[in-house]
Amino acid sequence: MDWGALRAAAVEVMRRAYAPYSGYPVGAAAYVDDGRIVAGCNVENASYGLTLCAECGLVSELHRTGGGRLVAFTCVDHDEELLTPCGRCRQLLHEHGGPTLLIESADGSRPLRELLPEAFGPEHLHPEHLHPEHLDEEQK
Ligand code: THU
Repeated sequence: MDWGALRAAAVEVMRRAYAPYSGYPVGAAAYVDDGRIVAGCNVENASYGLTLCAECGLVSELHRTGGGRLVAFTCVDHDEELLTPCGRCRQLLHEHGGPTLLIESADGSRPLRELLPEAFGPEHLHPEHLHPEHLDEEQK
């Protein structure tokens, strides 16, 4: 996993953020299971609650460019420092990467299951949407 390349993609897209209200640009980037990188920046709105987090743009690009599963994720702020995804975006990432999605942190990387334990997901609504990474070791 080339975390350096992923971080560079996040920094590049962070510079395109539209964040005139918070003054807090964010860039997010992730590897997809086919090896490509998808990225997104935050896009704010004068009606503040409509703000799109960087992760929203990333997920949109995931599907725009062919879909797949997210396998590794990083996110940076305007100082190029690592940022931990907000609660809503943890749920968003869970939908498209599942509990094994690796999230970069200051001391390495952690699976999303540690940031969003006992997550609600697509498999609760439709068991046929169960991805292998949702299974515990003993269920495999
Ligand atoms: N933001 C993100 O883009 N992702 C996160 O995970 C945390 C917050 C954005 C939303 C808003 O435009 C700005 O950061 C300040 O909250």
